Amino acid sequence: MEHHSVPRCIAFFLLTLLASLHYTQAKPGRNSIHSIFSFGNSYADTGNFVKLAAPVLPIIPFSNLPYGETFFGRPTGRASNGRIILDFIADEFGLPFVPPILGGEHNFTHGANFAVVGATALDLAYFYERNITSVPPFKSSLSVQLDWFQKLKPTLCSTPQGCRHYFRRSLFLMGEFGGNDYTFILAAGKTLDQVASYVPEVVQAISAGVEKLIKEGGRYVVVPGQLPMGCLPIVLTLYASPNKKHYDPRTGCLTKYNALTRYHNRLLSKAIYRLRIKYPATNIIYGDYYTPVMEFLRTPTRFGFSASSRLRVCCGAGGPYNYNLTAACGFPGASACANPATRINWDGIHMTETAYMYIAAGWLWGPYAQPPILKAMPRSLDLKTPSILEMNTFGYASS
Ligand SMILES: *[C@@H]1O[C@H](CO)[C@@H](O)[C@H](O)[C@H]1NC(C)=O
Ligand SMILES: *[C@@H]1O[C@H](CO)[C@@H](O)[C@H](O)[C@H]1NC(C)=O
Ligand SMILES: *[C@@H]1O[C@H](CO)[C@@H](O)[C@H](O)[C@H]1NC(C)=O
Repeated sequence: MEHHSVPRCIAFFLLTLLASLHYTQAKPGRNSIHSIFSFGNSYADTGNFVKLAAPVLPIIPFSNLPYGETFFGRPTGRASNGRIILDFIADEFGLPFVPPILGGEHNFTHGANFAVVGATALDLAYFYERNITSVPPFKSSLSVQLDWFQKLKPTLCSTPQGCRHYFRRSLFLMGEFGGNDYTFILAAGKTLDQVASYVPEVVQAISAGVEKLIKEGGRYVVVPGQLPMGCLPIVLTLYASPNKKHYDPRTGCLTKYNALTRYHNRLLSKAIYRLRIKYPATNIIYGDYYTPVMEFLRTPTRFGFSASSRLRVCCGAGGPYNYNLTAACGFPGASACANPATRINWDGIHMTETAYMYIAAGWLWGPYAQPPILKAMPRSLDLKTPSILEMNTFGYASS
């Protein structure tokens, strides 16, 4: 991270802390969970895809610099210049960075990351049955990731009751999912209206995934929504329009693509609401990507981002958004900007470490999660003997 950006992020943390002082008096979070299990796509992958794709693809961009240049100093398989949201969350809980299930780590006592670049909410077979062949042939969908979780389970716990007990003190992240489903359906030549007809099934798949985790004993599940699709430089480049009316004058984003995102997020929020009613003892958290990214674009300087480059990719190879599909980041011809800390978007699809840091802070302390993750966490460090207050607030009495 750039040194001069540090005071700005401290200011942001202080702001959010002050705004939420009523629940930060006792330090929640740390020690309250012992493990993190993450499912999702390239916004959460910490090294699975680069292992999965290595035998198949001649070039994997995420295996190349400048991916990873800012924090790790080497490519790690993360689709960013440094840490992603999952890393910042793990750090807040005093846990190690969540190891990818296909990576070199074999001890998953503190959690595992099943997320894979390109993963979809719906299965490959679902797309093939509908003649949508624009989906990459990797078996990495949400249900595949849940299968990997089932295979890992016996190494973590042995009896059904023991497992439920173990996962009560885990934090689960289910997503983001859906962005790839919609992207691949669009790439198959479907219209935005046709894509919208898939949203209920995508949301249903995510909701069913969350329900499986709850049945395993999960008490804390973060379910992220979609990023504003119409603001992603790849979408702005691929679906550029000569009609100025197709763009939001304030942000420069493609409004119809953002409407699809909002539709998905609305249905997802409703599904979460239903799950909370069905499982009152759980804490299901909506992780909002849409609001922070729109705030970055509307008031970039508030976060230390460059206003003139706000829609321009940091790591790219020219063009109006500095995004070139045939010379994307990690491929020959693309190079990173001098100061990634002043940029929102890293490679046309994914955010910079700085953007992820702000989103992670907003998910942990608010205002970008409902409820903020740390507000959902018990205040006591000893989960075995919760106070009456916690039993009422967090539903421990009902187990
Ligand atoms: C895995 O790591 C945990 C905590 O770091 C440790 O207690 C445990 O012994 C390790 N398990 C194995 C099989 O190495
Ligand atoms: C898919 O394509 C095949 C071959 O073109 C066709 O026979 C079939 O009816 C199509 N299926 C659907 C669901 O469109
Ligand atoms: C995109 O990159 C390719 C390959 O480097 C190059 O030939 C092409 O001119 C670039 N396009 C734009 C719009 O910069």
